[in-house]
Formats: sequence, structure tokens, C-alpha cells
Amino acid sequence: MQNKSKKIKLIKIFSSAVFIAAILFLLLFLFLNRNTGKNSGQNSAEQNGKLILGFSQIGSESAWRTRNTQSIFEAAMENDIQIIFDDAQQKQENQLKAIRSFIVYQVDVIAFVPIVEDGWDNVLTEAKEAGIPVILVDRQINADPSLYAGFLGEDGLEEGRRAARFLLNKCRNRTGKVSIYEMSGTENSSVVRDRARGFREIIATDSKFQIIHSEDGDFLRSRGKEIIENLIKSSYRKDGLFFEGERIDVVYSHNDSMTLGMLDSIENYGINTKNTIIISVDAEQKSIDALAEGKLNCVVECNPNLGPKLMELVKEIAEGNEIPRITYNNETVFTENDDFSTYEPRGY
Ligand code: AHR
Repeated sequence: MQNKSKKIKLIKIFSSAVFIAAILFLLLFLFLNRNTGKNSGQNSAEQNGKLILGFSQIGSESAWRTRNTQSIFEAAMENDIQIIFDDAQQKQENQLKAIRSFIVYQVDVIAFVPIVEDGWDNVLTEAKEAGIPVILVDRQINADPSLYAGFLGEDGLEEGRRAARFLLNKCRNRTGKVSIYEMSGTENSSVVRDRARGFREIIATDSKFQIIHSEDGDFLRSRGKEIIENLIKSSYRKDGLFFEGERIDVVYSHNDSMTLGMLDSIENYGINTKNTIIISVDAEQKSIDALAEGKLNCVVECNPNLGPKLMELVKEIAEGNEIPRITYNNETVFTENDDFSTYEPRGY
């Protein structure tokens, strides 16, 4: 009898030990699988051996933006990199959600176009803790630089300076006040801040240049059209644009979409703007055509073709290398003085 209960006790101890060992083994397996998966590129959807890039785009507010997205997709395909894409539809909250989903998915690299400068610290800390490097594309942010690997995009300051240099040169023989009306893009975005700053930095060298008003057009064609329509309606004159009764000598528009919207209104109301200097940024085909037709005076290029460079950076990072803190794309300026026959099709 005593022997029997001893035997039962032994069996119980043995099965508990087996059970605990099995649990420990399972935990160990899960832990190893998680870590080796991350390092060897076989976690999440990496079974096909491809690098996975989580990319959050802000939307499709302009032809520039559409080309920017296409460029990234084309380059990813050429480099055999898999993209998990999210279109944030112009909302930062959607970008935050997208980045968090990329973290859960354990992508290899995250790239995103920050719609505005602030509000990224928490999500980027989460990415950092998950060991996922982040590349900023097209726009910059206000955050601790250790939270992202680097930035790839345009030099907005220089774009603003280029616009202003054209203006200074164009008005070099002019005396008297030159009144400038500015249509800027999405509020609180780095690109707007830089284009405004660079422009102001150069015009500040001559006090005849004065910005009489700045209006936020959110980079949208519809807004550009509306802003200029409101101007025309409030002080209608056939011979130019006016702001609160004052003649506008120059319109500095932060992107082509707004500029094209402005041209829509100018045309709809039959306003003669041949004496209005119009400067735009982006260099979409339609605005280059408008430049050649004499409707614009200067178009500063902002190059949307960031895909090939982005893929190079993604591969560098995935190999464990550091990337430059800032990589600017090459950009130029188109003006009314150019030989238009030498222009190549823009592709956007
Ligand atoms: O951030 C780049 C700007 O955003 C482009 O100039 C504009 O067209 C786009 O929507």
C-alpha cells in the first residue's frame, strides 16, 4: 500500500517536471524564433527573403505627390524590395497609426513623409525600441535626431532662395515698392517653413521687396483657385490682381497645384496678369507649359523622384551601415529666359 502511494507521488513529480520542461522549451523556442527571425530577415512577411519597407505617404494632393509615390514604388520593384504602403489622406493621425502597424509587422525599415514637423517623438521612440530604423522622406521634423536614421528630400531653404534670387534679378532696375503676395502650402510643414524662410532671407537684402500678405493654400489646386477668386471678387480689376486695394506685383506660390488653380481663376475672370510676376515651385509639366506660354515667370524645381536614392539608403541601413543625416536631391530652376526647346518631358 505504502509502495503504491510512493509510486503515484513519483509519477506526479515526473509529469510536473515534464510539463514545466515543455513550457520552458516552448518559451525558449518562441524567444529564439523572435530574435533570429529579426536578424536574418525572416520574420513577419519576410519568408520570401525580400527586405520589407513600411512607407507612409501623406496623400495625393498634387501631381508632384503622385509622381513621388510612383517613383518609390518603381524603385522598390527594381530593387526587389517589398513595400507595405499606407496613404494617410492628409492626416497625421493616420500616419501615426500606419507607423505603429509597421512596427507590429516588424518591417525592416520604415520611411515616411511627415506631413507636419511636430508630434512624432512617441511613435519614433516606439520604432527605436523595436529596433526598426526610420528614414524621413521629403519633409523634416522637430525631434531628437537620434530617433531617425536620416533625411532624404529637397532643400526647401534653397528652393525659397532660388525663387527670391530670380525676383531680385528680374526687378534689379525697378525702383519703388514691389508688393509680394504669398500662397503657402500645408501649415506647420517643414517645406513651407523652409521655402518661406529662404525666400525672405534673400528679399531682405533689398527693402523695396515687401510681402503684403501670406495665405495658406494647403498645396491644393482648389485652394489656389479659391484664394485668387476671392481676391478678384473683393477688388475686381481687369488689369491685374489686387489685395485690399493694393496692386500685387508678385505672386510667390509654394507649389504648382496652387499656381495652376490661380491660373484657372485668372482665366475664368479674364484678368490680365502680364505685368504680374508669378513664381512657382515643383516644375510639373503643366506649369512648365504655362511658363513656355508666358503665363508664369519662374518655376523652381522640387524633384519628386526620390525612389532610387531611398532604396539605396534602405539597403545600406538593412546591412547595418549608417546613412548620411541629410541627402538632398538634385534640383534646378526654369525661367522665362530659358530656351524651352531644350526641355525634356517632366514625367509628372
Ligand atoms: O513636400 C513637397 C511639396 O508637397 C510639393 O512642393 C508639393 O507639391 C507637395 O504636395
